[in-house]
Parts: sequence; structure tokens; C-alpha cells
Amino acid sequence: MATALRTRSLLQSNQRFTSLSRASLRFASTGSKPLTLKERLAELIPSQIDQVVKQIRADHGKKSFGPVLVDQLYGGMRGLPALIWDGSVLDAEEGIRFRGKSIPECQALLPKAPGGSEPLPEGLFWLLLTGEVPTQEQVRALSRDWAARAAIPEFVEEILDRCPPTLHPMSQFSLAVTALNHDSAFARAYQEGISKKEYWQPTFDDAMDLIAKLPNIAGRIYRNVFGDGKVPAIDLEKDYSHNLAALLGFGDNEAFVELLRLYITIHSDHEGGNVSAHTGKLVGSALSDPFLSFGASLNGLAGPLHGLANQEVLIWLRKMQSKIGENASDDAVKEYVWSTLKAGQVVPGYGHAVLRKTDPRYTAQREFALKHLPNDPLFKLVGQVYDIVPGILLEAGKAKNPWPNVDAHSGVLLTHYGLTEMQFYTVLFGVSRAFGVAAQLIWDRALGAPLERPKSYSSDAIQRMFKDKH
Ligand SMILES: CC(C)(COP(=O)(O)OP(=O)(O)OC[C@H]1O[C@@H](n2cnc3c(N)ncnc32)[C@H](O)[C@@H]1OP(=O)(O)O)[C@@H](O)C(=O)NCCC(=O)NCCS
Repeated sequence: MATALRTRSLLQSNQRFTSLSRASLRFASTGSKPLTLKERLAELIPSQIDQVVKQIRADHGKKSFGPVLVDQLYGGMRGLPALIWDGSVLDAEEGIRFRGKSIPECQALLPKAPGGSEPLPEGLFWLLLTGEVPTQEQVRALSRDWAARAAIPEFVEEILDRCPPTLHPMSQFSLAVTALNHDSAFARAYQEGISKKEYWQPTFDDAMDLIAKLPNIAGRIYRNVFGDGKVPAIDLEKDYSHNLAALLGFGDNEAFVELLRLYITIHSDHEGGNVSAHTGKLVGSALSDPFLSFGASLNGLAGPLHGLANQEVLIWLRKMQSKIGENASDDAVKEYVWSTLKAGQVVPGYGHAVLRKTDPRYTAQREFALKHLPNDPLFKLVGQVYDIVPGILLEAGKAKNPWPNVDAHSGVLLTHYGLTEMQFYTVLFGVSRAFGVAAQLIWDRALGAPLERPKSYSSDAIQRMFKDKH
């Protein structure tokens, strides 16, 4: 019965997710024990290599994918088609889809915790890696596996304990993640002469360790910087988000745990080209192990135009409140927004390099707020700002996208539940982003992704190239 159900679910998921070859079904095991994530991946990888990647390269490898404009060289490579990542794709109008599934679809389809209504990030990780919606049992096994791997080495604890509390939590986070490279299975296997074909296996093990250890790192940073330095133990029977919440001191608040489940899911991945995802891929392409690669991702995420914007939004909102007071009029808010722009600053949480509509990650958080904290004064201010800022950015005429992104909303939710230390917010983004970066690193090693090496040009070369050509 269990086998028949699993085979049917494999069939359905493969019909739904066409990016992983349907032919992979013939690799599906018929044993009675449910497949682990690693076993299922081992089944999927050969067909993805032979029937998708090799086939596309054989059929279309020499075809042009469109022009490259000189503006793109100077313009941060906006829109330049340059990377492959099947896990998630970002549409400018519609927003992110994880393996073809929108955020509302993921909320509906992915397994939930008992009594919960938000998706478990464990399921999202399975989806990112396989293109399949896992069973409750598979997700449960993943929760247990991560809880069992969660301990961090003592020397990493010491590194964190020695950091001055004035060192930004993101710098501490990056230090600790980088130091985990001490025990990297991939680095060890490489030294021992592992074959290229096997690279993905120790990468998978490292990726699992990386994700599993992040709650302990994040919890320790939070408790050291903002609390008494005492970090509780991981509960082997609880899911990832519950454990993270408990380590931060919010394990008893079920609504906060639900928020974290949603938060991690929607922050996990945003296709391959954003700074943190691309940095992980780039550094990983040198065969740096997942700890080194993700440490680099975190350094990118710590920038104010990327993940740090969630901290910046709260700082900006608080400054606004202290200047114009609570329950301020629309006119007072408008004046404050204009004063930000006139001072040559960006309005944090608004605009996006790819999106041209309201970020569905913003909408998912707004819906959560409407359900759980409709009367929160800061939520009301966020809503008021949403009504005002797009019109002003349009009038100012520079930003290509006047609409809010994910960072415009996350801080108000965390603040509502008492996690008020905004310098910590990007760490939670970082925990979430590990899911996407780790999944991408595993597939890159499985597909034999080569060292990244785009070509750079001097301005002089470009001037000479187009001299006398109009
Ligand atoms: C996300 C962001 C970096 C994208 O940058 P981008 O792709 O260069 O955006 P655009 O092409 O729309 O930028 C065109 C101009 O509008 C400005 N602009 C974009 N978003 C703006 C905002 N929220 N407030 C003020 N100005 C903004 C840019 O700074 C740029 O100005 P410039 O020509 O003087 O350099 C940008 O929108 C931004 O800085 N937003 C605020 C920070 C933020 O929320 N980051 C998190 C993103 S998920």
C-alpha cells in the first residue's frame, strides 16, 4: 500500500514538475522504506544530466541567447542571461516560483506541522532539490536528521563567545559559518582524491550539516549579543523552525513558530542571480566547500541593498515615528518619504532589480499580519507607507519598481512577537537563504558546473570596439 501510494505520488509530482526529466521515474525505488532525500536525489541526478542538460547542450548549445548590451556591462549585469538554476525562477510581474510553484501554492501543498497552517521549510528544501512535494513522513525524517546534526563544534562556540557584542550579528554569523569548514566532508573527500562524479555526495552531507547547524549559530549570536549567553538544547523531536524559535527564546509562542516556518520558506531562494545566491554559486564553482561558499553568500546578504534592508526598514520606520509621531497623517508620512529621497537616500524595502510588481513575499507576510496582528500599530504604519511610497517613487521618476519587496514587511512581524533587535533580522534571512544556496550547490556539483569565469573589458577596449560605428 505504502509503495503504491509513493509510486503514485512520484508519478503525480513528475507530471507536475517537468524540469526534472520524467524518465527519472524509472530510477524510482520500489522498496518499502520511504526514500531519504539523498536516495531520491541519487535517482534523479543521472537522468537530469543525460536527458536534460546534455540534451539541451547538444540541441541548442551553439545558439545565441540574445544580445549583450554595453549598458549591461556597466549596469550590474541587469537581465543578462548568464546562469542556470532550476530550483526557483523569478518573474518580473508574478514573483518567485519554487520549482514552478507560487508562494500560495507552496503554502497549500507543502506539509505542515501538526495543528499548523504554514509550510514547513523542510518540505521546501525537498521541493527545491527534487521538484517533488514530499510526504509528511519524509519531512519528519528531515526534521529529525537536521536536529541530530545541529550541534556546532566547541571551537565555533568559542569564536562566537569571544566576539564583542558590538560586532554586527551578520559578521559573527559569517565567521562561524566559515569556521565550520574545519569539518567539511567535501574538503576532506577532495583531499583524499574523490572522483568528480561523486562530488555531489559530500556536498550534500555538508549542505545538510550547514542548514542543521544554523539555528545553534543564530541562537548563540542572539543570546550572546542581546541576552544572557545561555543557549538551550535542540529538541530532537521538533521541527527546524520550532527549534530555531526555541533557541532564540520564542519556542513557547506557536504563532511566532508559524511565522518562522513561513519566513524561512519565502526567504529561502529567489532564483540564481541575486547577490547571496550568486555569490554562493560563484565561490562554490572554485570547489570551495558549502561552508566557505555560504559564508561568502552571507557577506553579500549583509549589504544594505540586499538582506540588510530588513534591518534598515525598521530603523527607517522607527526614525519616522520619532520624528512625526505615532498615528501620523498621510501628509506627514509623505513629507518624511520625500525628505529621505531629497537626502539622497533610498527608501528601504521598496524597489527591486527584477520585480516590477508588489513582491508576493510581501503579500504573504501582509496576509499573515492580517490574520495574526491586524491591530498592531507598526503594521498599520507599514500599510500606510504601502499606500504612499509607490506614488512618491513614481513621481520622483527614478526607481523602475516603486513597489515593496520582502524586506518592507518582515521586521514588523518579528517586532510584534518581541524580537525587537533589528540588527539581528538579517541573520534570520541568512538562515533561510541557506536553503536555496545549499540546494544550488548540490545540483552544481551533481551537474559538474565549471569554474565561473566571465570576461571583463576595459572602457578603452569598448571605446575602440565601437569607434566610427554608429
Ligand atoms: C533593490 C535595489 C537595490 C534595486 O536597484 P536597481 O535595480 O538599480 O533599481 P532601479 O533600476 O530601479 O534604480 C534606478 C534608480 O532608482 C533608485 N531607486 C531604486 N529603488 C529606490 C528606492 N527604494 N528608493 C529610492 N531610490 C530608489 C536607484 O537608487 C537608482 O538611482 P540612481 O540612478 O541614482 O543610481 C533598489 O531598488 C534599492 O536600493 N531599494 C532599497 C533597498 C532595498 O529594499 N533592498 C532590498 C531589495 S530585495
